[in-house]
Amino acid sequence: MAKHATPMLDQLESGPWPSFVSDVKLEAEARAKNEKGLDYQIPVECPDDLLGVMELSFKDKETHWKHGGIVGVFGYGGGVIGRYCDQPEMFPGVAHFHTVRVNQPAGKYYSSEYMNQLLDIWELRGSGLTNMHGSTGDMVWLGTTTPQLEEIFFDLTHKLNTDLGGSGGNLRTPSDCLGQSRCEFACFDTQHLCHTLTNEYQDELHRPAFPYKFKFKFDGCPNGCVAAIARSDFAVIGTWKDDIKIDQEKVKA
Ligand code: HEM
Ligand code: HEM
Ligand code: SF4
Repeated sequence: MAKHATPMLDQLESGPWPSFVSDVKLEAEARAKNEKGLDYQIPVECPDDLLGVMELSFKDKETHWKHGGIVGVFGYGGGVIGRYCDQPEMFPGVAHFHTVRVNQPAGKYYSSEYMNQLLDIWELRGSGLTNMHGSTGDMVWLGTTTPQLEEIFFDLTHKLNTDLGGSGGNLRTPSDCLGQSRCEFACFDTQHLCHTLTNEYQDELHRPAFPYKFKFKFDGCPNGCVAAIARSDFAVIGTWKDDIKIDQEKVKA
């Protein structure tokens, strides 16, 4: 049984397209049942209260999210976006609802095992709701409380060999097309360059030193599957020079 009546949000489930409202409801039900017997570290009703506060925003025709302020982990200036609700008594499950940006693997390849390990952290320590992936490229984990941030950060960096992404005036999480791992058009190894530069510029990624965001994106060819030219400040687009060269030795019959 839903915690809040949401007649306006329910309309968003009526069209032929997939609905985020249905997804949030599914997560709310799964958390209420808790079939895995998890010791949830943030309020179990978080997704329910998310639906409740959204319904209220539609009714009042204004947002009930306060703009975040600064929250994060020690030593970093980005990667976590603070969100607080201005109606915490009515919606205690989303009194804090911080977003965690997590650096996606180059080309967005995951094994099922790795994906499950990531989501185990987030079910336990966050809302269980994600946006895979945000416009920048990161995995975007939607909704947790301040005390969970260091715990999540520890597990990501010590157990899962990944890290927070960028936010604010820093280098944003670089992203790339899947390039030559699967695509015949690739003119260079986008994954290699994306991964190498992500490692090279860790300081710029985690410690905002710029007056504004700065983005790198890598397209293997001018088809532009990550739309590097439109979406980044530093676009790398694969092309070729000279006539096409054929290694006649290799192709001879
Ligand atoms: C629960 C509420 C919210 C959710 C689920 C949400 C979700 C998101 C997502 C998915 C992104 C994209 C991240 C990426 O591309 O990597 C984003 C970015 C952003 N959101 Fe929200 N958002 C929320 C509330 C707000 C509010 C209330 C504001 C402003 C008053 C806001 C302002 C922004 C801005 C400015 C960015 C770009 C941040 C940056 O790139 O530095 N969001 N949000
Ligand atoms: C005449 C009024 C405005 C002008 C000319 C203007 C112009 C711009 C420009 C040129 C950008 C950069 C776009 C880019 O990075 O590609 C930008 C970004 C942005 N503006 Fe404005 N802006 C105006 C009003 C506002 C207002 C009223 C708000 C908020 C209430 C706002 C919020 C933002 C945000 C959050 C971004 C960053 C978007 C992102 O993270 O991608 N702007 N604006
Ligand atoms: S940008 Fe080019 S190389 Fe990259 S996936 Fe698209 S078509 Fe392939």
